[in-house]
Amino acid sequence: MYAVLLEKGRSFTNPPGKTNMRKTIQNISCIGAGYVGGPTMTVFAAKCPDVRFVVVDSNPEKIAAWNTDNLPVFEPGLLDIVRKVRGKNLFFSPDIDRAIDEAEMIFLSVNTPTKSYGLGKGMAADLKYVERCARQIAEVSRTDKIIVEKSTLPVRTAESIRDIVSDCGNRVRFRVLSNPEFLAEGTAVRDLLEPDRVLIGGEDGPEGAEAIEELASLYANWVPDERIIRTKLWSSELSKLTANAFLAQRVSSMNAVSAICEATGADVDEVAKAVGMDSRVGPKFLKASVGFGGSCFQKDILNLVYLCRHYGLDEVADYWEQVIRINDYQKRRFAKMVIEKLFNTVAGKKIALLGWAFKKDTNDSRETPAMYVAAELLQDQADLHVYDPRVSEERICEDLRFMETWEGWQGSKSLTEAQIQGGVTVHKDPYEAVDGAHAALVLTEWDEFTGYDWQRIHKSMRKPAFLFDGRNILPGRAMSEIGFRVYQVGKSG
Ligand code: UDX
Ligand code: ADP
Repeated sequence: MYAVLLEKGRSFTNPPGKTNMRKTIQNISCIGAGYVGGPTMTVFAAKCPDVRFVVVDSNPEKIAAWNTDNLPVFEPGLLDIVRKVRGKNLFFSPDIDRAIDEAEMIFLSVNTPTKSYGLGKGMAADLKYVERCARQIAEVSRTDKIIVEKSTLPVRTAESIRDIVSDCGNRVRFRVLSNPEFLAEGTAVRDLLEPDRVLIGGEDGPEGAEAIEELASLYANWVPDERIIRTKLWSSELSKLTANAFLAQRVSSMNAVSAICEATGADVDEVAKAVGMDSRVGPKFLKASVGFGGSCFQKDILNLVYLCRHYGLDEVADYWEQVIRINDYQKRRFAKMVIEKLFNTVAGKKIALLGWAFKKDTNDSRETPAMYVAAELLQDQADLHVYDPRVSEERICEDLRFMETWEGWQGSKSLTEAQIQGGVTVHKDPYEAVDGAHAALVLTEWDEFTGYDWQRIHKSMRKPAFLFDGRNILPGRAMSEIGFRVYQVGKSG
């Protein structure tokens, strides 16, 4: 399918009569070889064969991995495209200074996590990585550059970047663009090949407009012009936060409804279907679940909230903060239900967690609801057995260690190393994870879970065998007929 999309894009090459077809950009660098930078530059390289792309990262191991077939990022279809362009016009290099020096355009795709210290702790974005890059660009540059912010950043970050680079005293002209990424993990390649829209924000005035067109001309190789939106810098940055806030709000709205369904006997999937068929609402992002995760939703909304508070807009801040609160409530509610149904204690009980990634088709587990559920169960002294098709054991243990310092999870204490070491076993085989377990919890909607031999699983578990489907992917009635005590989100048992 991706090969078809790759070919299809070519028809957009050089649309007649467009002013944006000047070919000045020959060398592009991208700082940050993570979930955003790696896939984005790969698709750019495939679509712009005459431009040379160099991706750099301060982590040399990550760069080394990008140069093998064992890529640090798992995305369906990605490896095929990387293989086609790597060594031709796409290069992964540890030499950041050289990449900056050689490029006419530099993408910033470094991480912008929520600040874990000082002013704005737990709310504001931590811009130290962005600032470090901006300083390095300022120091190294000897020729004019267009800097494109590609990480998720709060509004007015471009201004900070411009401030840093413009005062470096080396007479280089820097222009700053905001080009937020809208790719969702697990579908990154498709999202990049067929974007709903591309947003390019630039500075006011002719220089800003010119920079916007330089970037637009690259996208013109595969994206129809009407899908390329040109805006002010601030509008582009705020649009990214707002789009994610709206999506997360839909999920939180459905998750709030799921609690009503459980209490009243309605079925949340039926409600979602009926609501989604209203063409004014639409069917997407209405799936009730154990909670949303990922690197963007929570972080972006917290940014929005922080911004609102900064500008004294407390009512607006409270409004958006509630989206996060419902998500926290949903994760906690799920963990609580597991403990209650297992006769009010999970101490010493083997509990299988199927799925750790924050959604299917990715090896990313940032903010995954699984780690919050796991932490709650560990506090209750459960014996956890985890299986995920893509997330490594190291990553799972790291996530739990991160929980030790996490403070947003009200009611939870931090986990000790002993709790993690003694309470968590990671399996490579799902059937081993469930063998002898009191309960199996589905925490990620991996397709393979629906194909398991659930009769065999039931047989191997302790009785009564509990099945908690946090993603509503299993056929509830069929599972009950096998003999499981089934609990799904937004369905009364
Ligand atoms: C999101 C945005 O979709 C993307 O545009 C942005 O650029 C980055 O952030 P991502 O975090 O990769 O992408 O995943 P997404 O598909 O949006 O899912 C986010 C979370 O919501 C996942 O944990 C997912 O399982 C959950 N979700 C999504 C639901 O629980 N129900 C739904 O109906 C949809
Ligand atoms: P995202 O999902 O935003 O892509 P990742 O954490 O996957 O986030 O990727 C960000 C990458 O940026 C990481 O690989 C990190 O090592 C890299 N990085 C952070 N700061 C710098 C820097 N100053 N110079 C180069 N690379 C950096």
